[in-house]
Amino acid sequence: MKNNLICVLIGAPGAGKGTQAKSVANYYNCKLISTGDILRENVENRTLLGLEAKKYIDNGNLAPAQIVVSMIKNVVKSFVENKAGADKSLLFDGFPRDLEQNKLFEQILDELNLSIKGVIYINIDDDIVYERLTNRRICPKCNRVYHLKFNPPKFDNLCDDCKVKLITREDDKIDVIKKRLEVYKKLTYPLIEYYRKKNKVVEINGNKSADDVLKDIIAGINCAK
Ligand code: AP5
Repeated sequence: MKNNLICVLIGAPGAGKGTQAKSVANYYNCKLISTGDILRENVENRTLLGLEAKKYIDNGNLAPAQIVVSMIKNVVKSFVENKAGADKSLLFDGFPRDLEQNKLFEQILDELNLSIKGVIYINIDDDIVYERLTNRRICPKCNRVYHLKFNPPKFDNLCDDCKVKLITREDDKIDVIKKRLEVYKKLTYPLIEYYRKKNKVVEINGNKSADDVLKDIIAGINCAK
């Protein structure tokens, strides 16, 4: 595989970014950077960053750009510095989310002599967003993600690995899902259009099964490379 494959996964809440990101990162041997996961880890550990971000996450808003971008900058810089002369492939899940974050993101990549190869846009219908998120359950111990219909645990409401009771994410309440979807359309659509004009968008039909979506993403990235 060509070195320094830099890709971004964009999609509505529940589009399947997290589900696909792990498989795609494994397939291409990329480092996966998920801002949602990093922010949730900070919330769980009650760091200052986490306490600040929680106010926004719980309401379905984006955390402030300066918090998210400086967090990303540190992760990316330390990854790249430790990879001198080696492959620096990176997959971003949920970052950047708007034009403001993207401007700062492009500056970070420029400084590190990297550039985006492709933006994978997982497009799903609004009714499927609600269906996915109201049926999502997560393990509070290992963060494994389940879906009550499409990817259910083997035993009623228990994590297959940890055997602890599954929970619903705080931001998967109907009113918060609605807000997240509004924020996504207002702030992320212009970003998708920005990359469309640069011919970098690989649009994937996210309404299909997880296996089919993965096949389409890999085919799309292979064309973009
Ligand atoms: P984040 O965690 O990134 O939330 P999101 O973008 O709303 O996306 P989700 O994690 O809800 O969904 P997903 O697309 O990963 O779907 P999943 O694979 O789990 O961010 C949370 C919050 O953090 C944000 O709202 C914001 O406040 C903050 N934040 C994060 N990044 C930020 C940034 N850059 N700037 C500022 N703030 C930021 O799938 C969903 C369900 O469907 C699962 O149950 C799964 O099993 C199932 N499923 C997946 N694919 C399929 C399929 N094809 N068929 C059937 N079921 C499927």
